[in-house]
Amino acid sequence: MKVTVVGAGAVGASCAEYIAIKDFASEVVLVDIKEGFAEGKAMDLMQTATLLGFDTKITGVTNDYSKTAGSDVAVITSGIPRKPGMSREELIGINAGIVKTVATSLIKHSPNVIIIVVSNPMDTMAYLAHKATGLPKNRIIGMGGALDSARFLYRLSEALGCPASDVAGMVIGGHSDTGMIPLTRLAVRNGVPVSEFLSTEKLAEVSEETKVGGATLTRLLGTSAWYAPGAAVSSMVQAILCDQKKMFPCSVMLDGEYGLKDICIGAPAIIGKNGVEKIVEIKLDAAEKALLAESADGVRKTNDLLEEATA
Ligand code: LAC
Repeated sequence: MKVTVVGAGAVGASCAEYIAIKDFASEVVLVDIKEGFAEGKAMDLMQTATLLGFDTKITGVTNDYSKTAGSDVAVITSGIPRKPGMSREELIGINAGIVKTVATSLIKHSPNVIIIVVSNPMDTMAYLAHKATGLPKNRIIGMGGALDSARFLYRLSEALGCPASDVAGMVIGGHSDTGMIPLTRLAVRNGVPVSEFLSTEKLAEVSEETKVGGATLTRLLGTSAWYAPGAAVSSMVQAILCDQKKMFPCSVMLDGEYGLKDICIGAPAIIGKNGVEKIVEIKLDAAEKALLAESADGVRKTNDLLEEATA
């Protein structure tokens, strides 16, 4: 099984690294526009193969999509990351054109590919990839919710003083500082609602820290994060290639689910060999429904900027 990762920056390289370490793909092709960069990252990663014990073959190419031919899954991480103080939405002007070109180049050489979009503003970039390629809605997925949920579980485990593996829960809604909806009502520690252990105030704090999770890291690192984004996307690639039918909250094209249409936004979905195999409609309470409607309004506002950004 072949995976292409476009963008050999920190997120793309981490994604390639985790895919290789988990050893479920035969081949990973890294693509970058910077001459020699993807080749260098691929060579460096390949020199870890005997040390880390993987057989995945990683190659790098400079902007040559013919080398990506026959990919089963492609990950788009290209474009610029945010700097401290910036919102993800501010990246649309530069990233929209890049994502459009990358998505169309990918399907030219891999007509059956399933695309995972990571570039920001992620929900809008996933929507753009749909519009630019016309692929069926199961074949383009945005990564946000898988990452946001991992950050939610990290914050919950910190508040509970327990390992993250004790906790389960999801973040739905848009992948933005204001659009994320950590579902604290449904989060559990080993099957027990977290509200049994944490006060309403503490849960509100966990929610807020989760929503600004990316911004906090951008402030600390001077650029946006890469380990958790790379790990989140590699888990999604694995779910597709290994046909795991795993449920991830991720950015999916809705067609009436949750009362929303013609929008990519974070919702739970079953991910398997066909990409999005099912969108799961969970029962939200009135407050959560209102938050999702508000989050969708925010995503639509950014989508409305696409025409100008890609003109
Ligand atoms: C983040 C970027 C990938 O949240 O959106 O770290």
